[in-house]
Amino acid sequence: MPPQTGKNAHKIKRLVVVSNRLPIVLVRGEKGEWQIEPGSGGLVTALAPILRNRGGLWIGWPGTCEKVNLDKIMSVTDNDTGYTLKPVTLTEEEINKYYYGFSNEIIWPLFHDLISRCIFDPTYWDVYQEVNLKFARVIARNTRTHDYIWVHDYQLMLVAKELRAMGITRKIGFFLHIPFPQLDIFLKLPWRFQILRALLEYDLIGFQSLRDRRNFVQCLRTLIRDIRVQGKGQVSTIQLGDREIRVGNFPISIDYNGIQKQTADQQVADRAWYIHEYYPNRKIVLGVDRLDYTKGIPWRLQAFKNALLKYPELQNKITLVQIVVPSREDIPEYHNLKNEIDSLVGEINGQLTQSGWVPIHYIFRSLQKSELFAYYRTAEIALITPLKDGMNLVAKEYCASKLENDGVLILSEFAGAAPQLQKDALLVNPYDIEMVAEAIYQAFTMDEEERQFRMFRIRRSIGKYNIFWWVNSFLRAAIAKNLDNFPPLDYYIPSENYLPLEDFISVQNKLHDPSARHEL
Ligand code: UDP
Ligand code: G6P
Repeated sequence: MPPQTGKNAHKIKRLVVVSNRLPIVLVRGEKGEWQIEPGSGGLVTALAPILRNRGGLWIGWPGTCEKVNLDKIMSVTDNDTGYTLKPVTLTEEEINKYYYGFSNEIIWPLFHDLISRCIFDPTYWDVYQEVNLKFARVIARNTRTHDYIWVHDYQLMLVAKELRAMGITRKIGFFLHIPFPQLDIFLKLPWRFQILRALLEYDLIGFQSLRDRRNFVQCLRTLIRDIRVQGKGQVSTIQLGDREIRVGNFPISIDYNGIQKQTADQQVADRAWYIHEYYPNRKIVLGVDRLDYTKGIPWRLQAFKNALLKYPELQNKITLVQIVVPSREDIPEYHNLKNEIDSLVGEINGQLTQSGWVPIHYIFRSLQKSELFAYYRTAEIALITPLKDGMNLVAKEYCASKLENDGVLILSEFAGAAPQLQKDALLVNPYDIEMVAEAIYQAFTMDEEERQFRMFRIRRSIGKYNIFWWVNSFLRAAIAKNLDNFPPLDYYIPSENYLPLEDFISVQNKLHDPSARHEL
Protein backbone atom coordinates (compact mmCIF):
# COMPACT_ATOMS: atom_id res chain seq x y z
CA MET A 1 0.00 0.00 0.00
CA PRO A 2 1.53 3.37 -0.99
CA PRO A 3 2.31 5.83 1.79
CA GLN A 4 -0.24 8.53 2.38
CA THR A 5 1.85 11.39 1.15
CA GLY A 6 -0.65 14.24 0.96
CA LYS A 7 -0.24 17.09 -1.51
CA ASN A 8 2.37 18.91 0.58
CA ALA A 9 4.46 15.95 1.68
CA HIS A 10 7.22 16.61 -0.87
CA LYS A 11 7.68 20.09 0.56
CA ILE A 12 8.39 18.93 4.09
CA LYS A 13 11.77 20.31 5.08
CA ARG A 14 12.26 20.15 8.81
CA LEU A 15 11.87 17.46 11.45
CA VAL A 16 10.31 18.55 14.69
CA VAL A 17 10.59 16.02 17.50
CA VAL A 18 8.31 16.42 20.50
CA SER A 19 8.76 14.37 23.65
CA ASN A 20 8.11 14.90 27.32
CA ARG A 21 11.84 14.96 27.96
CA LEU A 22 14.48 16.94 26.15
CA PRO A 23 17.73 15.04 25.71
CA ILE A 24 19.10 17.12 28.57
CA VAL A 25 18.04 17.76 32.13
CA LEU A 26 18.83 20.98 33.96
CA VAL A 27 19.86 20.59 37.57
CA ARG A 28 21.22 23.06 40.11
CA GLY A 29 24.87 22.52 40.98
CA GLU A 30 26.29 22.88 44.48
CA LYS A 31 26.80 26.62 44.08
CA GLY A 32 23.31 27.12 42.70
CA GLU A 33 24.55 27.31 39.10
CA TRP A 34 22.75 25.42 36.33
CA GLN A 35 24.30 22.13 35.29
CA ILE A 36 23.27 20.13 32.28
CA GLU A 37 22.97 16.37 32.51
CA PRO A 38 21.90 13.84 29.88
CA GLY A 39 18.25 12.78 30.07
CA SER A 40 17.77 9.17 31.09
CA GLY A 41 16.05 6.35 29.25
CA GLY A 42 15.91 4.76 25.85
CA LEU A 43 13.82 7.43 24.12
CA VAL A 44 16.57 10.03 24.45
CA THR A 45 19.31 7.56 23.44
CA ALA A 46 17.40 6.55 20.34
CA LEU A 47 16.35 9.98 19.12
CA ALA A 48 19.53 11.98 19.73
CA PRO A 49 21.48 10.56 16.73
CA ILE A 50 18.56 11.22 14.39
CA LEU A 51 18.23 14.95 14.81
CA ARG A 52 21.94 15.51 15.16
CA ASN A 53 23.14 18.14 12.74
CA ARG A 54 19.95 18.26 10.64
CA GLY A 55 18.70 21.68 11.58
CA GLY A 56 15.61 20.31 13.30
CA LEU A 57 13.82 21.27 16.46
CA TRP A 58 13.29 19.24 19.65
CA ILE A 59 10.48 20.39 21.91
CA GLY A 60 10.25 19.05 25.46
CA TRP A 61 10.49 19.56 29.20
CA PRO A 62 13.95 20.43 30.54
CA GLY A 63 13.48 18.45 33.75
CA THR A 64 13.01 21.35 36.16
CA CYS A 65 10.00 23.32 37.39
CA GLU A 66 11.98 26.55 37.63
CA LYS A 67 11.48 29.05 34.84
CA VAL A 68 14.66 28.85 32.79
CA ASN A 69 16.03 30.76 29.89
CA LEU A 70 17.32 27.70 28.14
CA ASP A 71 18.54 29.71 25.17
CA LYS A 72 20.82 31.64 27.49
CA ILE A 73 22.02 28.63 29.45
CA MET A 74 22.80 26.71 26.30
CA SER A 75 24.16 29.59 24.32
CA VAL A 76 25.71 27.60 21.49
CA THR A 77 23.25 24.73 21.21
CA ASP A 78 22.40 24.71 17.52
CA ASN A 79 25.94 25.55 16.48
CA ASP A 80 27.18 22.45 18.22
CA THR A 81 24.48 19.86 17.76
CA GLY A 82 22.84 21.13 14.60
CA TYR A 83 19.38 21.26 16.14
CA THR A 84 17.53 23.56 18.47
CA LEU A 85 16.00 22.71 21.83
CA LYS A 86 12.75 24.41 22.75
CA PRO A 87 11.76 23.99 26.39
CA VAL A 88 8.21 23.60 27.65
CA THR A 89 8.20 24.82 31.21
CA LEU A 90 5.94 22.97 33.62
CA THR A 91 4.81 23.93 37.10
CA GLU A 92 5.28 21.72 40.13
CA GLU A 93 1.60 20.82 40.14
CA GLU A 94 1.76 19.89 36.45
CA ILE A 95 4.76 17.68 37.07
CA ASN A 96 3.02 16.02 39.98
CA LYS A 97 -0.24 15.30 38.19
CA TYR A 98 0.68 15.02 34.54
CA TYR A 99 4.15 13.42 34.75
CA TYR A 100 4.23 11.49 38.03
CA GLY A 101 0.45 11.10 38.16
CA PHE A 102 -1.31 10.37 34.88
CA SER A 103 1.75 9.33 32.88
CA ASN A 104 3.60 7.27 35.47
CA GLU A 105 0.95 6.14 37.95
CA ILE A 106 -1.72 5.30 35.37
CA ILE A 107 -0.53 4.81 31.80
CA TRP A 108 2.93 3.39 32.58
CA PRO A 109 1.75 0.57 34.89
CA LEU A 110 -1.44 -0.11 32.90
CA PHE A 111 0.37 -0.39 29.56
CA HIS A 112 2.89 -2.74 31.22
CA ASP A 113 0.00 -4.98 32.40
CA LEU A 114 0.45 -3.98 36.06
CA ILE A 115 -3.06 -2.77 36.80
CA SER A 116 -2.69 -3.17 40.57
CA ARG A 117 -0.10 -0.40 40.56
CA CYS A 118 -2.45 2.13 38.89
CA ILE A 119 -3.91 5.08 40.79
CA PHE A 120 -6.92 6.26 38.80
CA ASP A 121 -7.12 9.77 40.26
CA PRO A 122 -9.46 11.93 38.10
CA THR A 123 -7.47 15.10 38.83
CA TYR A 124 -4.50 13.49 37.07
CA TRP A 125 -6.57 13.33 33.89
CA ASP A 126 -7.50 17.03 34.08
CA VAL A 127 -3.88 18.10 34.34
CA TYR A 128 -2.76 15.60 31.68
CA GLN A 129 -5.15 17.31 29.25
CA GLU A 130 -3.93 20.77 30.25
CA VAL A 131 -0.28 19.88 29.77
CA ASN A 132 -0.93 18.24 26.39
CA LEU A 133 -2.63 21.50 25.40
CA LYS A 134 0.40 23.42 26.65
CA PHE A 135 2.71 21.31 24.48
CA ALA A 136 0.38 21.82 21.50
CA ARG A 137 0.56 25.60 21.96
CA VAL A 138 4.35 25.56 22.00
CA ILE A 139 4.34 23.40 18.85
CA ALA A 140 1.86 25.71 17.12
CA ARG A 141 3.99 28.78 17.93
CA ASN A 142 7.28 27.23 16.89
CA THR A 143 6.51 25.24 13.75
CA ARG A 144 5.77 26.06 10.13
CA THR A 145 3.51 24.53 7.48
CA HIS A 146 6.24 22.38 5.94
CA ASP A 147 7.53 20.86 9.18
CA TYR A 148 6.95 17.23 9.99
CA ILE A 149 5.85 17.00 13.61
CA TRP A 150 6.77 13.75 15.28
CA VAL A 151 5.36 13.29 18.78
CA HIS A 152 6.75 10.60 21.08
CA ASP A 153 5.36 8.45 23.81
CA TYR A 154 2.58 8.00 26.30
CA GLN A 155 2.96 11.36 28.03
CA LEU A 156 1.71 13.18 24.90
CA MET A 157 -1.11 11.11 23.43
CA LEU A 158 -3.50 14.11 23.16
CA VAL A 159 -1.23 16.58 21.38
CA ALA A 160 -2.54 16.01 17.83
CA LYS A 161 -6.12 16.39 19.01
CA GLU A 162 -5.27 19.76 20.56
CA LEU A 163 -3.43 20.89 17.43
CA ARG A 164 -6.35 19.87 15.21
CA ALA A 165 -8.71 21.81 17.51
CA MET A 166 -6.56 24.88 16.80
CA GLY A 167 -7.09 24.29 13.07
CA ILE A 168 -3.55 23.06 12.41
CA THR A 169 -3.48 20.62 9.51
CA ARG A 170 0.25 19.83 9.52
CA LYS A 171 1.34 16.22 9.21
CA ILE A 172 1.72 14.72 12.67
CA GLY A 173 3.10 11.29 13.52
CA PHE A 174 3.16 9.48 16.85
CA PHE A 175 5.41 6.74 18.14
CA LEU A 176 4.66 4.79 21.31
CA HIS A 177 7.89 3.64 22.96
CA ILE A 178 6.15 1.44 25.53
CA PRO A 179 3.88 -1.57 24.96
CA PHE A 180 0.19 -1.19 24.11
CA PRO A 181 -1.89 -3.51 26.33
CA GLN A 182 -4.46 -6.14 25.42
CA LEU A 183 -8.12 -5.20 25.25
CA ASP A 184 -9.13 -6.60 28.64
CA ILE A 185 -6.48 -4.46 30.32
CA PHE A 186 -7.06 -1.32 28.25
CA LEU A 187 -10.76 -1.50 29.02
CA LYS A 188 -10.00 -0.73 32.68
CA LEU A 189 -8.80 2.76 31.80
CA PRO A 190 -11.51 5.27 32.79
CA TRP A 191 -10.51 7.54 29.85
CA ARG A 192 -10.27 4.75 27.25
CA PHE A 193 -12.54 6.40 24.66
CA GLN A 194 -10.87 9.79 24.94
CA ILE A 195 -7.38 8.31 24.55
CA LEU A 196 -8.29 6.21 21.51
CA ARG A 197 -10.14 9.08 19.82
CA ALA A 198 -7.22 11.41 20.47
CA LEU A 199 -4.70 8.97 19.01
CA LEU A 200 -6.77 8.81 15.83
CA GLU A 201 -6.00 12.51 15.23
CA TYR A 202 -2.42 11.55 14.31
CA ASP A 203 -1.74 10.68 10.66
CA LEU A 204 0.57 7.78 11.47
CA ILE A 205 0.74 5.82 14.72
CA GLY A 206 3.81 3.65 15.26
CA PHE A 207 4.26 0.81 17.74
CA GLN A 208 7.30 -1.19 18.80
CA SER A 209 5.93 -4.59 17.83
CA LEU A 210 3.23 -6.39 15.93
CA ARG A 211 1.80 -7.50 19.27
CA ASP A 212 1.29 -3.85 20.36
CA ARG A 213 -0.21 -2.87 17.04
CA ARG A 214 -2.64 -5.80 17.09
CA ASN A 215 -3.70 -4.92 20.63
CA PHE A 216 -4.37 -1.35 19.54
CA VAL A 217 -6.39 -2.41 16.51
CA GLN A 218 -8.42 -4.79 18.64
CA CYS A 219 -9.21 -1.97 21.08
CA LEU A 220 -10.27 0.27 18.19
CA ARG A 221 -12.51 -2.41 16.71
CA THR A 222 -14.21 -2.92 20.06
CA LEU A 223 -14.54 0.67 21.22
CA ILE A 224 -14.86 2.86 18.14
CA ARG A 225 -17.87 2.52 15.92
CA ASP A 226 -17.66 2.55 12.09
CA ILE A 227 -13.94 1.92 11.97
CA ARG A 228 -12.42 -0.04 9.05
CA VAL A 229 -8.91 -1.49 9.11
CA GLN A 230 -7.29 -2.55 5.84
CA GLY A 231 -3.94 -4.10 4.96
CA LYS A 232 -1.76 -6.60 6.76
CA GLY A 233 1.81 -5.53 5.91
CA GLN A 234 4.10 -3.46 8.09
CA VAL A 235 1.58 -0.63 7.85
CA SER A 236 -2.19 -0.82 7.65
CA THR A 237 -4.80 1.85 7.06
CA ILE A 238 -7.68 2.81 9.28
CA GLN A 239 -10.74 4.45 7.74
CA LEU A 240 -12.81 6.61 10.04
CA GLY A 241 -15.34 8.75 8.20
CA ASP A 242 -13.34 10.74 5.69
CA ARG A 243 -10.11 10.37 7.65
CA GLU A 244 -7.39 7.89 6.85
CA ILE A 245 -4.92 6.99 9.58
CA ARG A 246 -1.96 4.69 9.16
CA VAL A 247 -0.81 2.25 11.83
CA GLY A 248 2.46 0.33 11.76
CA ASN A 249 5.05 -1.49 13.79
CA PHE A 250 8.59 -0.13 13.76
CA PRO A 251 10.89 -1.77 16.33
CA ILE A 252 13.24 0.92 17.57
CA SER A 253 16.98 0.41 17.60
CA ILE A 254 20.35 1.99 18.34
CA ASP A 255 23.08 3.87 16.51
CA TYR A 256 24.97 0.63 15.95
CA ASN A 257 28.00 2.10 14.14
CA GLY A 258 28.23 5.01 16.56
CA ILE A 259 28.24 2.66 19.55
CA GLN A 260 30.83 0.39 17.95
CA LYS A 261 33.02 3.40 17.33
CA GLN A 262 32.70 4.66 20.89
CA THR A 263 33.32 1.20 22.34
CA ALA A 264 36.43 0.73 20.21
CA ASP A 265 37.91 3.90 21.67
CA GLN A 266 41.19 3.24 23.51
CA GLN A 267 40.00 4.93 26.70
CA VAL A 268 36.93 2.69 26.81
CA ALA A 269 39.11 -0.35 26.14
CA ASP A 270 41.47 0.64 28.98
CA ARG A 271 38.59 1.22 31.32
CA ALA A 272 37.09 -2.15 30.41
CA TRP A 273 40.40 -3.78 31.23
CA TYR A 274 40.58 -2.06 34.62
CA ILE A 275 37.03 -3.07 35.45
CA HIS A 276 37.81 -6.69 34.80
CA GLU A 277 41.03 -6.55 36.77
CA TYR A 278 38.83 -5.91 39.76
CA TYR A 279 37.17 -9.30 39.23
CA PRO A 280 40.18 -11.56 38.51
CA ASN A 281 39.41 -15.02 37.07
CA ARG A 282 35.69 -14.38 37.23
CA LYS A 283 32.99 -13.88 34.67
CA ILE A 284 30.92 -10.73 34.93
CA VAL A 285 27.16 -10.95 34.55
CA LEU A 286 25.78 -7.48 33.84
CA GLY A 287 22.37 -5.98 34.60
CA VAL A 288 21.63 -2.35 33.59
CA ASP A 289 18.26 -0.77 34.27
CA ARG A 290 16.48 2.38 35.29
CA LEU A 291 15.00 1.93 38.74
CA ASP A 292 11.65 0.57 37.57
CA TYR A 293 9.35 -2.22 38.68
CA THR A 294 8.88 -3.26 35.05
CA LYS A 295 12.54 -4.27 34.84
CA GLY A 296 12.15 -7.30 37.11
CA ILE A 297 15.23 -6.57 39.23
CA PRO A 298 14.11 -8.41 42.43
CA TRP A 299 13.27 -11.56 40.41
CA ARG A 300 16.65 -11.32 38.71
CA LEU A 301 18.48 -11.09 42.03
CA GLN A 302 16.58 -14.12 43.29
CA ALA A 303 17.39 -16.03 40.11
CA PHE A 304 21.08 -15.17 40.47
CA LYS A 305 21.07 -16.41 44.04
CA ASN A 306 19.27 -19.53 42.88
CA ALA A 307 21.97 -20.16 40.27
CA LEU A 308 24.71 -19.84 42.89
CA LEU A 309 22.98 -22.29 45.20
CA LYS A 310 22.00 -24.77 42.53
CA TYR A 311 25.41 -24.74 40.84
CA PRO A 312 27.96 -24.18 43.65
CA GLU A 313 30.78 -24.28 41.08
CA LEU A 314 29.60 -20.79 40.04
CA GLN A 315 30.48 -19.41 43.46
CA ASN A 316 33.67 -17.39 43.39
CA LYS A 317 33.65 -17.68 39.59
CA ILE A 318 30.90 -15.26 38.68
CA THR A 319 29.86 -11.76 39.82
CA LEU A 320 26.66 -9.91 39.06
CA VAL A 321 27.30 -6.22 38.41
CA GLN A 322 23.89 -4.60 38.71
CA ILE A 323 23.68 -0.96 37.61
CA VAL A 324 20.49 0.83 38.62
CA VAL A 325 19.84 4.36 37.37
CA PRO A 326 17.72 6.50 39.75
CA SER A 327 14.33 7.25 38.21
CA ARG A 328 10.94 8.72 39.22
CA GLU A 329 11.90 8.49 42.87
CA ASP A 330 9.05 10.77 44.00
CA ILE A 331 6.62 7.94 43.23
CA PRO A 332 6.18 5.70 46.29
CA GLU A 333 6.26 2.49 44.17
CA TYR A 334 9.73 3.44 42.90
CA HIS A 335 10.94 4.42 46.31
CA ASN A 336 9.75 1.09 47.76
CA LEU A 337 11.44 -0.78 44.94
CA LYS A 338 14.74 0.88 45.82
CA ASN A 339 14.37 -0.34 49.41
CA GLU A 340 13.51 -3.82 48.21
CA ILE A 341 16.58 -4.00 45.96
CA ASP A 342 18.86 -2.61 48.67
CA SER A 343 17.70 -5.20 51.14
CA LEU A 344 17.81 -8.12 48.68
CA VAL A 345 21.37 -7.28 47.62
CA GLY A 346 22.38 -7.04 51.30
CA GLU A 347 20.67 -10.33 52.09
CA ILE A 348 22.25 -12.27 49.20
CA ASN A 349 25.71 -10.81 49.75
CA GLY A 350 25.38 -11.42 53.49
CA GLN A 351 24.52 -15.05 52.89
CA LEU A 352 27.02 -15.94 50.15
CA THR A 353 30.05 -13.64 50.30
CA GLN A 354 33.37 -15.42 50.80
CA SER A 355 36.73 -13.89 51.52
CA GLY A 356 37.82 -12.18 48.29
CA TRP A 357 34.47 -12.62 46.54
CA VAL A 358 31.24 -10.63 46.78
CA PRO A 359 28.47 -12.11 44.58
CA ILE A 360 26.67 -8.85 43.68
CA HIS A 361 28.22 -5.47 42.96
CA TYR A 362 25.47 -2.91 43.05
CA ILE A 363 25.88 0.55 41.51
CA PHE A 364 23.06 3.02 42.10
CA ARG A 365 23.71 5.99 39.81
CA SER A 366 23.68 6.95 36.17
CA LEU A 367 26.91 6.18 34.31
CA GLN A 368 28.39 8.22 31.51
CA LYS A 369 28.11 6.38 28.22
CA SER A 370 31.87 5.79 28.03
CA GLU A 371 31.82 4.04 31.42
CA LEU A 372 28.70 2.09 30.53
CA PHE A 373 30.24 0.93 27.25
CA ALA A 374 33.32 -0.25 29.17
CA TYR A 375 31.05 -2.45 31.30
CA TYR A 376 29.31 -3.76 28.18
CA ARG A 377 32.63 -4.48 26.55
CA THR A 378 34.03 -6.41 29.46
CA ALA A 379 30.98 -8.33 30.75
CA GLU A 380 30.82 -11.94 29.55
CA ILE A 381 27.07 -12.23 30.10
CA ALA A 382 24.20 -9.70 29.98
CA LEU A 383 21.19 -10.57 32.14
CA ILE A 384 18.24 -8.57 30.85
CA THR A 385 15.00 -9.77 32.33
CA PRO A 386 12.22 -7.14 32.27
CA LEU A 387 8.72 -8.31 33.18
CA LYS A 388 7.57 -6.30 30.16
CA ASP A 389 9.42 -3.71 28.09
CA GLY A 390 8.61 -1.71 24.95
CA MET A 391 12.00 -2.62 23.46
CA ASN A 392 14.97 -2.55 25.89
CA LEU A 393 17.86 -0.79 24.21
CA VAL A 394 20.37 -2.00 26.78
CA ALA A 395 20.10 -5.47 25.21
CA LYS A 396 20.98 -4.08 21.79
CA GLU A 397 23.72 -1.77 23.10
CA TYR A 398 25.38 -4.66 24.94
CA CYS A 399 25.59 -6.72 21.75
CA ALA A 400 26.76 -3.76 19.65
CA SER A 401 29.63 -3.36 22.14
CA LYS A 402 30.82 -6.97 21.85
CA LEU A 403 33.32 -6.12 19.16
CA GLU A 404 34.89 -9.58 19.28
CA ASN A 405 31.50 -11.34 19.27
CA ASP A 406 32.32 -12.69 22.69
CA GLY A 407 29.37 -12.43 25.02
CA VAL A 408 26.07 -14.10 25.81
CA LEU A 409 22.73 -12.32 25.98
CA ILE A 410 20.11 -13.69 28.36
CA LEU A 411 16.88 -11.93 27.46
CA SER A 412 13.32 -11.85 28.74
CA GLU A 413 10.62 -13.18 26.43
CA PHE A 414 8.65 -10.08 27.33
CA ALA A 415 11.14 -7.50 26.08
CA GLY A 416 10.24 -5.87 22.75
CA ALA A 417 13.71 -6.93 21.57
CA ALA A 418 12.84 -10.63 21.96
CA PRO A 419 11.14 -11.32 18.60
CA GLN A 420 14.20 -10.03 16.74
CA LEU A 421 16.86 -11.69 18.91
CA GLN A 422 15.07 -14.84 20.03
CA LYS A 423 17.07 -17.27 17.91
CA ASP A 424 20.47 -16.40 19.30
CA ALA A 425 19.81 -14.95 22.75
CA LEU A 426 18.95 -17.30 25.64
CA LEU A 427 15.28 -16.45 26.08
CA VAL A 428 13.81 -16.72 29.57
CA ASN A 429 10.59 -16.14 31.44
CA PRO A 430 11.73 -13.56 34.04
CA TYR A 431 9.18 -14.82 36.59
CA ASP A 432 10.68 -18.31 36.41
CA ILE A 433 13.74 -18.02 38.63
CA GLU A 434 14.70 -21.65 37.99
CA MET A 435 14.71 -21.12 34.24
CA VAL A 436 16.79 -17.94 34.61
CA ALA A 437 19.25 -19.79 36.87
CA GLU A 438 19.60 -22.51 34.18
CA ALA A 439 20.24 -19.86 31.55
CA ILE A 440 22.97 -18.28 33.71
CA TYR A 441 24.63 -21.68 34.00
CA GLN A 442 24.24 -22.34 30.28
CA ALA A 443 25.79 -18.97 29.47
CA PHE A 444 28.65 -19.59 31.91
CA THR A 445 29.49 -22.97 30.40
CA MET A 446 28.82 -22.16 26.72
CA ASP A 447 31.80 -22.92 24.52
CA GLU A 448 33.51 -20.15 22.61
CA GLU A 449 32.38 -21.30 19.18
CA GLU A 450 28.72 -21.21 20.12
CA ARG A 451 29.10 -17.85 21.91
CA GLN A 452 30.75 -16.33 18.85
CA PHE A 453 28.21 -17.78 16.45
CA ARG A 454 25.21 -16.53 18.39
CA MET A 455 26.67 -13.09 19.04
CA PHE A 456 27.76 -12.68 15.42
CA ARG A 457 24.20 -13.29 14.23
CA ILE A 458 22.67 -10.98 16.81
CA ARG A 459 25.09 -8.22 15.85
CA ARG A 460 24.45 -8.69 12.16
CA SER A 461 20.74 -8.23 12.75
CA ILE A 462 21.12 -5.16 14.99
CA GLY A 463 23.61 -3.64 12.56
CA LYS A 464 21.13 -4.00 9.71
CA TYR A 465 18.04 -2.90 11.59
CA ASN A 466 19.67 0.06 13.28
CA ILE A 467 18.23 3.41 14.35
CA PHE A 468 18.55 4.85 10.84
CA TRP A 469 16.60 1.91 9.41
CA TRP A 470 13.95 2.63 12.06
CA VAL A 471 13.64 6.35 11.33
CA ASN A 472 13.58 5.74 7.60
CA SER A 473 10.85 3.14 7.80
CA PHE A 474 8.73 5.48 9.91
CA LEU A 475 9.31 8.50 7.67
CA ARG A 476 8.63 6.47 4.53
CA ALA A 477 5.29 5.38 5.93
CA ALA A 478 4.54 8.90 7.14
CA ILE A 479 5.59 11.20 4.31
CA ALA A 480 7.33 9.00 1.74
CA LYS A 481 10.69 10.45 2.82
CA ASN A 482 14.01 9.26 4.22
CA LEU A 483 16.33 10.86 6.71
CA ASP A 484 18.49 11.75 3.68
CA ASN A 485 15.75 14.16 2.64
CA PHE A 486 16.75 16.17 5.73
CA PRO A 487 20.42 16.41 4.77
CA PRO A 488 23.12 17.10 7.35
CA LEU A 489 23.92 20.78 7.69
CA ASP A 490 27.45 20.47 6.40
CA TYR A 491 27.74 24.19 5.90
CA TYR A 492 26.79 24.64 9.53
CA ILE A 493 29.40 22.42 11.11
CA PRO A 494 31.47 19.69 9.46
CA SER A 495 29.69 16.44 10.22
CA GLU A 496 32.80 14.73 11.59
CA ASN A 497 33.05 17.56 14.13
CA TYR A 498 29.61 17.28 15.61
CA LEU A 499 29.60 16.76 19.32
CA PRO A 500 28.04 13.61 20.73
CA LEU A 501 25.50 14.58 23.38
CA GLU A 502 27.80 13.84 26.31
CA ASP A 503 30.69 15.93 24.99
CA PHE A 504 28.31 18.73 24.20
CA ILE A 505 26.97 18.65 27.75
CA SER A 506 30.45 18.69 29.19
CA VAL A 507 31.43 21.73 27.06
CA GLN A 508 28.25 23.51 28.11
CA ASN A 509 28.85 22.88 31.79
CA LYS A 510 32.37 24.19 31.53
CA LEU A 511 31.09 27.29 29.77
CA HIS A 512 28.91 28.05 32.74
CA ASP A 513 31.50 27.22 35.36
CA PRO A 514 33.90 30.20 35.42
CA SER A 515 36.60 28.20 37.19
CA ALA A 516 36.71 25.67 34.34
CA ARG A 517 36.76 28.06 31.39
CA HIS A 518 40.49 27.96 30.90
CA GLU A 519 40.23 24.24 30.10
CA LEU A 520 38.22 24.87 26.96
N1 UDP B 1 21.84 4.34 30.29
C1 UDP B 1 22.75 5.34 30.52
N2 UDP B 1 23.50 5.32 31.68
C2 UDP B 1 23.37 4.33 32.59
C3 UDP B 1 22.45 3.29 32.33
C4 UDP B 1 21.69 3.31 31.17
O1 UDP B 1 22.89 6.24 29.70
O2 UDP B 1 24.06 4.37 33.62
C5 UDP B 1 21.04 4.35 29.04
C6 UDP B 1 21.32 3.15 28.17
O3 UDP B 1 22.47 3.39 27.39
C7 UDP B 1 20.03 3.02 27.36
C8 UDP B 1 18.99 3.68 28.23
O4 UDP B 1 19.66 4.25 29.34
O5 UDP B 1 20.15 3.72 26.14
C9 UDP B 1 17.95 2.69 28.74
O6 UDP B 1 17.08 2.36 27.69
P1 UDP B 1 16.15 1.09 27.71
O7 UDP B 1 15.41 1.05 26.42
O8 UDP B 1 16.94 -0.14 28.00
O9 UDP B 1 15.17 1.30 28.95
P2 UDP B 1 14.28 2.55 29.43
O10 UDP B 1 15.09 3.21 30.52
O11 UDP B 1 14.04 3.42 28.26
O12 UDP B 1 13.04 1.93 29.99
C1 G6P C 1 11.06 5.12 28.96
C2 G6P C 1 9.94 5.94 28.36
C3 G6P C 1 10.43 7.36 28.03
C4 G6P C 1 11.08 7.99 29.24
C5 G6P C 1 12.18 7.09 29.79
C6 G6P C 1 12.82 7.65 31.06
O1 G6P C 1 12.02 4.93 27.99
O2 G6P C 1 9.44 5.30 27.21
O3 G6P C 1 9.37 8.16 27.59
O4 G6P C 1 11.61 9.26 28.90
O5 G6P C 1 11.64 5.81 30.08
O6 G6P C 1 11.85 7.96 32.01
P1 G6P C 1 11.63 9.43 32.57
O7 G6P C 1 10.37 9.35 33.36
O8 G6P C 1 12.83 9.73 33.39
O9 G6P C 1 11.52 10.36 31.40
